[in-house]
Amino acid sequence: MSATLTDYEKYLRTEELLALQKAAEQLSCHDELQFQVVHQVAELWMKLCDHELTGVARALTGGEVPRAMRGLERVRRVQHLLLEQLGLLDTMAPKDYMTIRNALGRGSGQESPGFKRMLQLPVEIWPSFEKLLADRKVTLRQIYEHPDAQPELFNLAEAMIEFDQNLQMWRQRHLTLVYRQIGAGTPSLKGKPSELLAEGMKHRFFPPLWAVRDELFAEWTQGHPYGAEKGYHG
Ligand code: HEM
Repeated sequence: MSATLTDYEKYLRTEELLALQKAAEQLSCHDELQFQVVHQVAELWMKLCDHELTGVARALTGGEVPRAMRGLERVRRVQHLLLEQLGLLDTMAPKDYMTIRNALGRGSGQESPGFKRMLQLPVEIWPSFEKLLADRKVTLRQIYEHPDAQPELFNLAEAMIEFDQNLQMWRQRHLTLVYRQIGAGTPSLKGKPSELLAEGMKHRFFPPLWAVRDELFAEWTQGHPYGAEKGYHG
């Protein structure tokens, strides 16, 4: 470590941080630095989401809804950054990605520790949310039937489904990036990405928040003079 580090460099550990990317002479092609930086930054953002969502679960367990809402709002903003930064990789020629892929070895995004946490966190948060509803003696169905009677809980449920929706949007955007780089038919290390990744896009992270909509719409449209035959926009 250099003896003359500034407080800024010491606090942010910039020496170590900036040594975590390949040196210019080791890069397989010019674009590899961007590829590495985008992935590393994504891991850091997902680490922050993990930290925040763990705090959200804790706040919900303690009945602190405003605190949980602040955490969810921060995560929502981070998810937008995660989505937005995928676009940087659109600036890469498929030929350069091919060169990087050879340098990657058998590395796959499926092994991302941050993304694995993003998949697991909803499972960890849900019981705290259920406990909160039990403490307040209200069901999810009641909240969605009368959102104005329970605005705090309704806004909380909506913030949670926003997280779910943003993860799905990330998956969709990532798939278009994959198509743009390697095409829709090219097999990847784990089979055809189109099939593999499209399967993931069907996943619902908070299934009850989607199911309550099915339940209520089935009921609201039942016996309605223009019922189901009018379609969604009727
Ligand atoms: C050139 C850009 C990219 C290409 C061509 C690409 C390609 C792929 C492919 C083919 C898969 C399917 C699994 C496999 O065969 O390994 C995959 C999965 C994945 N990639 Fe990427 N990727 C790119 C950028 C990124 C970035 C920037 C991230 C950010 C962390 C990322 C994270 C992931 C994750 C988390 C999965 C698993 C997705 C899921 O389970 O739904 N990828 N990627």
